[in-house]
Amino acid sequence: MDKKKVTVLFQPSGRRGLVEKGKTLLQAAHELGVSIESVCGGKHTCGKCKVRIEEGIFEGGSLKSRRENLSFFPPEENKFIEEKEREKGYRLACVAKLQGDVLINVPEESRAVQQTIRKDAHQTTTKLNPGVKSYYVELTPPTLKEALGDFERLQQKLAIHYGLRDLTADVSFLQTLPRILRASNWKITTFVWMDREILGIQPGKVEDFYGLAVDIGTTTVAVYLCNLNNGQVVATESMMNPQVIFGEDVMTRITYAMNDQDKGLKRLQEAIIEGMNRLAQSAGRSAGIMPEEILEMVVVGNTAMHHIFLGIDLQYLGLSPFAPAVHHSLDIKARDLGLKIHPAANVHLLPIEAGFVGADNVGVLISEEPYSREEIALIIDVGTNGELLLGNKQRLLCASCATGPAFEGAHIKFGMRAAPGTIERVRIDPDTLEVRYKVIGLEKWSDECPPAEIQARGICGSGIIEVVAEMFRAGVLERNGRINNSITSGRIRKTDKESEFIIARAEETAIGREITISTADIRAVQLAKGALYAGAKILMKMLGVKHLEEVILAGGFGSYIDSQRAMILGMFPDCDLQKVFSVGNAAGDGACLALLNREKRTEADRMARQVEYIELTTHPDFTEEFVNAMSIPHMKDDFPHLQDLLQSRSFPPSK
Ligand code: FES
Repeated sequence: MDKKKVTVLFQPSGRRGLVEKGKTLLQAAHELGVSIESVCGGKHTCGKCKVRIEEGIFEGGSLKSRRENLSFFPPEENKFIEEKEREKGYRLACVAKLQGDVLINVPEESRAVQQTIRKDAHQTTTKLNPGVKSYYVELTPPTLKEALGDFERLQQKLAIHYGLRDLTADVSFLQTLPRILRASNWKITTFVWMDREILGIQPGKVEDFYGLAVDIGTTTVAVYLCNLNNGQVVATESMMNPQVIFGEDVMTRITYAMNDQDKGLKRLQEAIIEGMNRLAQSAGRSAGIMPEEILEMVVVGNTAMHHIFLGIDLQYLGLSPFAPAVHHSLDIKARDLGLKIHPAANVHLLPIEAGFVGADNVGVLISEEPYSREEIALIIDVGTNGELLLGNKQRLLCASCATGPAFEGAHIKFGMRAAPGTIERVRIDPDTLEVRYKVIGLEKWSDECPPAEIQARGICGSGIIEVVAEMFRAGVLERNGRINNSITSGRIRKTDKESEFIIARAEETAIGREITISTADIRAVQLAKGALYAGAKILMKMLGVKHLEEVILAGGFGSYIDSQRAMILGMFPDCDLQKVFSVGNAAGDGACLALLNREKRTEADRMARQVEYIELTTHPDFTEEFVNAMSIPHMKDDFPHLQDLLQSRSFPPSK
């Protein structure tokens, strides 16, 4: 046996294999196809990759698993692994390195699961006018007297029957044209892009053909496979952005690219291209098609994600005045980027507004159309990089703020991406402090079913917003974000380091222990929501408005954000609750709209140039606004529309 390799067995999956000594357990898991949650991508900062080494002799004596077969326990693991857990053999998979044979148990909460993306069908209500269209034709075969070229023959027919003139041909189409024409008895369906270029043909009459809308978020990448014949979204898939291993947020990724001028950007680009190829494949599998049947892709993402996707030098984007390399929308051959879809397919990238407000915000813009409204609307796209739009048909302002990944479940002890078993709704009885909650995948609330049926695994973004807001409403939380220790309740517990509130009891969870929210978690939420609120206030000042007439909450959450709880938390200034709407992943909707209706691309090009960009970080009032906005809901601002909801609250002053 190779002395440089050791045996690793992962349970409960039963995956085993030989892995090189010195590799981390996380690397071993990747090699053996075991999914372990790793929000920070192995940077030792999220604590989500906890696994347990089992000691003993297994597999009929062939596997001797001992704790000493892993590298020593360094201080950085203490932050995430409590003494009790350490005694039981828990380690961080991204830290512990292999030195000998091991049997590793991956606990329920550390198993990576497929993210849940909630979509409604409203993106399909647009007029259907896709960039790619199909045309059925029957051609007359050539004769000695009339030996026109195959392409010209097709050109002529398309011009006569459909008015399509001066069509060009992608080379991959020309390569297969003669064979397919003859094999199909000259009856074919032709796919034409933007009435300009023939992408390909298929024998006979083909009804359904496909396009892919892609939202590259800093933390999550989501794709929507659409049938371009009828506008239906036939599959949605998502994954953690594979670039996370190089940095959690936009700035750290830019720094990574700048620090390694030779390979940094290339690695980031390869990671996202490879990830998108995997998503295209799995979306295709769900819909029963091959990735090669995807004839167009529309991509949105913030400016950094956009530039990395294209492999554009990032160094100037990372420096004031944060100028992007290109503002306009782009059309690029998918194959030039290494994307494995139809060989002639084009990728359309929506335009960039300015600074970090990129094509994703343009997606939100064309999806929500604030430029058609009379009311002053604030649109918040909640993500690791939060983006704001404020205004109406007269004038529109935009800004971006670094919220951090708390709303995506990172930096929260039991935070998770939205997936089956994650808590998405929370209610706390102000009198008894009893908690009822709802997990994704279970119709009933927690108090409507036996504890063993709930199987809660963690808490996702919408659940995080709700639990903090409900804790405040019920008086558990003070305005400054501290847990009110004068309250006696079995739900409140003080640990060595901090206080925490128990959301789910151990018997209700799939992880065999309580799911809690701690003061450190609440702090992360305050930082995120404070940045959004402060950004909104600055934009309101710039626009000269004192009140919001409408608020639209967007973001790729597991469930639509509860408007009341979002306002109680103080994610945005006071507004009539009847006028606060939650719209799901509007950036992804915008990508779908642009895929299905080319007029939306023209609209995007026009509106992206009309929105005025405001740089928040250099605004003189930002710090003060941010400090005030850290309080729940706010240190100074009134919330007349919350008066009834919060009347039971005494609002203890901040200490
Ligand atoms: S992946 Fe190990 S701490 Fe984040």
